[in-house]
Amino acid sequence: MKVLGVSGSPIPNSNTDRALKMALEATGCETEFIKLIDYNVAPCRACLGCVDTNRCVNKDDGVILAEKAKEADALIIACYTTYSTIDSRTKAFIERLYPLRHLHGFMAGKPGGAIVTSAIPDKHEMLPPAGNMGVDAIRFYMMEEGMNFVGYVKVSGNVPCIKCGYGDECKMSAVKMIFGPNATVDSVGINRFEGQPVATNAAMELGKEIAQALRIKG
Ligand SMILES: Cc1cc2nc3c(=O)[nH]c(=O)nc-3n(C[C@H](O)[C@H](O)[C@H](O)COP(=O)(O)O)c2cc1C
Repeated sequence: MKVLGVSGSPIPNSNTDRALKMALEATGCETEFIKLIDYNVAPCRACLGCVDTNRCVNKDDGVILAEKAKEADALIIACYTTYSTIDSRTKAFIERLYPLRHLHGFMAGKPGGAIVTSAIPDKHEMLPPAGNMGVDAIRFYMMEEGMNFVGYVKVSGNVPCIKCGYGDECKMSAVKMIFGPNATVDSVGINRFEGQPVATNAAMELGKEIAQALRIKG
């Protein structure tokens, strides 16, 4: 049994990547970790050139990645969130799995899960719940392909303004926008996945749920 994990986070060894690696490890299966920034994947052109062949006519790495998804027994998609939804690399990757749909439904029945990193806490009263919207985007892809969505992990990430060097003086800084008028770069600090027990437990659980679903499926 092989579990494919795909991360759309472009940041090297990011919270998203480490959460995904923990979930993959917890499956106890053979796994492969893919970082989308290392690949060249354009969005779907909706040309329907894939209908008869289940293969995209756009000759970039999207073809290779769709082949990997087809061969895998389970899929975990991990993303970070930009402007309140999944990042564009992850979205393009998902669109490029469309060739696997026609006539055969190659992803149908496979266990799947989502890992989503966002900077804005879901319980924020004024700002959009990026984490929930990210999970829904991945969940709904899996639902529409007939996959078995077994669970998700939400990770608290870092707003880029924490690290940019101007977080306390820029009038557009998201530090105060998210955390209130008295917040500073130092008072907010850096979020690490490993320091979030709810997220680390959820990552372990997700891996185990994937393994369990694979056992039941046989
Ligand atoms: C262009 C851009 C837009 C972003 N927009 C949002 C947003 O709307 N909501 C949010 O919660 N986080 C937003 N973020 C913050 C990212 O989600 C954050 O950088 C992420 O948690 C980092 O995760 P990583 O360390 O796993 O890569 C944005 C980041 C970038 C670069």
